[in-house]
Formats: sequence, structure tokens, C-alpha cells
Amino acid sequence: MSDKPVIAVLVSGSGSNLQAIIDAAERREIPGRVGLVVSNKADAYGLTRASRHGIPTVVVDHKAFESREAFDAKLVEVIRASGAKLVCLAGFMRVVTPVFLRAFPHRILNIHPALLPSFPGTHGPGQALRYGVRFSGCTVHFLDDGVDTGPIIVQAVVPVYEDDTEDALAARILKEEHRIYPMAIRLFLEGRLTVEGRRVFTKDAGKIPGFSHRNPDA
Ligand code: GRF
Repeated sequence: MSDKPVIAVLVSGSGSNLQAIIDAAERREIPGRVGLVVSNKADAYGLTRASRHGIPTVVVDHKAFESREAFDAKLVEVIRASGAKLVCLAGFMRVVTPVFLRAFPHRILNIHPALLPSFPGTHGPGQALRYGVRFSGCTVHFLDDGVDTGPIIVQAVVPVYEDDTEDALAARILKEEHRIYPMAIRLFLEGRLTVEGRRVFTKDAGKIPGFSHRNPDA
């Protein structure tokens, strides 16, 4: 078994972001490996994706627990057992409690299909479309105790077209999610992220192709 740092990925559905992370790890673009996939839904396609790559999976059904805290305590137990250094929420449709947050301080990432702080919560692409913005996108951020409010690591922008449907916009955003989530994971595992209050500073970001946070005037 490789001694690369273990990433635990939490999913509830399709798991296309999970797939992007697995693929990036297999291409060695991420200095870690997905060592555990957890789902709160037994029929999540993400579990099938994980199994195809020989990755252990665990289902923790939230409906079997009497409180959010009890559910989170079980998640913490299975993730700790994997030895994960990083926890990635990837389409995990549960709001977590401080029980979960405190177990992995500054070690939980989330991806959201909008340019935060705009359009947090569910249906990010639909919210953006209905609001009438000309651009939307996606955000990878550290998890904090709010809903989609944690310090922002990477964002990507996509145009919103006048004849867009919610599905078309969501698909355009998802493509960018698959690009920036592995990028953020790489930055984290390489120890290049520093958080100061709300702001995240990235060491040597210019060495990552497609990472556009360099100041051209600097
Ligand atoms: C993504 O849009 C993600 O940002 C959101 O849920 C969707 C999950 O897609 N939180 P997938 O399961 O990774 O395919």
C-alpha cells in the first residue's frame, strides 16, 4: 500500500467530482490517494466509481441516526479509521455539525457550484440563472460552521448565456469543478495554503498551470 496521504471523499450522488479527484491522483497530479469514499446514500453512483478503482467505501445512512450530531460522530469514526489527512465533501448533501468540523480542523474542503458568497445553499446554478448574473462559476473553500461560508481557496468563472437552462449552466460549471477541485487538493497537500482570517494565501501558485491568482502587476 502506498504511503501517500489519504484523502477521504464524502458523496451523496453521481460523484463526478470524486472521479476527477481519483483520476488526478492516479495521474499523480495530486500527491495523495483517495483511500476512502463515504456516502449517506446506499445507491450513490459515487460508490460504484470508488469500487471500480479498488477504493474502500462505507455507507452511513443519516436516517439511521437520531440526531445530526450522532450521524456526524459515526462519520468521524469511519474517517479517522482510514487515517485521512484531508476530507473532501464532493456533492455531499448534508449539513455537518461542529462534531464533524472540530474533528478535522482546517482539513475539510467543500466545492460549491456558484461564485461564493453569491448563491450559497442548494441549486446554485438555478439561483444564478434566475438572478440574471452574466457570470457564475464554482468555488472550493475550507469548511467552517456556516453554509458555504468558509475561506475561499480557488474559484473558476463561466459565462451565463441568455438562452441557458439550469442544466446547461450546471454542466458548464461542473466541468470547471472537475478542474479546480484537484487543483485545490494539490495546493493543500503540498502545504502551500495559509489561512489568515477569511483570506487564503497560496505559496508559489504560479507553478500550477491554469491557476490564475498571480498578480500580473507584481
Ligand atoms: C456539484 O455541482 C457540487 O458542486 C455540488 O453537487 C454537485 C455534485 O456533483 N455540491 P457530483 O456528485 O460530484 O457529480
